[in-house]
Amino acid sequence: MGAGDDWEGKAVRVGALHEIAGHSGESLATIAQAVLPSAAAYTFVMSRQLIRLLGLVLIVVASSGCAAGVPSVAEPAAPVKLDVIFVATDLEIVNAMLTLASVTRDDVVYDLGCGDGRIVIAAAKEFGARGVGVDLDPQRIREAQANAVRAGVADRVAFRVQDVFDTDTQPATVVTLFLSPELNARLRPKLTSQLKPGTRIVSHRYGIGDWVPERTETLSVRGTRNHIFLWRVP
Ligand SMILES: C[S@@+](CC[C@H](N)C(=O)[O-])C[C@H]1O[C@@H](n2cnc3c(N)ncnc32)[C@H](O)[C@@H]1O
Repeated sequence: MGAGDDWEGKAVRVGALHEIAGHSGESLATIAQAVLPSAAAYTFVMSRQLIRLLGLVLIVVASSGCAAGVPSVAEPAAPVKLDVIFVATDLEIVNAMLTLASVTRDDVVYDLGCGDGRIVIAAAKEFGARGVGVDLDPQRIREAQANAVRAGVADRVAFRVQDVFDTDTQPATVVTLFLSPELNARLRPKLTSQLKPGTRIVSHRYGIGDWVPERTETLSVRGTRNHIFLWRVP
């Protein structure tokens, strides 16, 4: 008997088992155990369990980020060394920063050190812009991606694990920062050489070296005074 005949024979036998199961009301596995030689029944039951297991794996994969089109974020080989730790900007301040930069739907907002993605997500959701967030910490990027999906703006924003010094900021029309005085000062040559003239830069709390801001605003949020600054690339 050839390989094709063998396969055809098996298919006929499985079909017959289905028929018996349909008439008797017994499960297919029980029928198989009763009518097939023990080795064949064992193979039959095991292959059904394998199919069930495969189904389960597919459901788990489908319900993870992959199914929603969210790119997966790899674990770093070594612990990441951050230049500043994650502290989220209060949403009231986020809104004030984006308003200070006069963000519109025509803008592309880059947040350098984006944390949980709140600035870029607010720019897309509340101001209609598109945005990109980069952060060295993969955990923050996973949170940002999940938050973007939850906010319904995943198609207008992108988040990636990247050092702010390696980020190509050329497509940006607005750049937002909440880093440190030292990091801001180190970023200045990159920002002024890479960004298009007229690009707005808004920073929460810290200045950029001795670069005099075009505007400064102070807001009181929960009893704390907060400063935000605006520059325009010459
Ligand atoms: C103070 S948090 C600001 C988060 C967010 N921009 C906000 O305002 O809510 C600074 C973020 O920068 C990230 N970070 C630190 N050093 C970095 C670097 N060299 N490149 C990219 N991200 C960095 C940290 O992981 C952290 O999430």
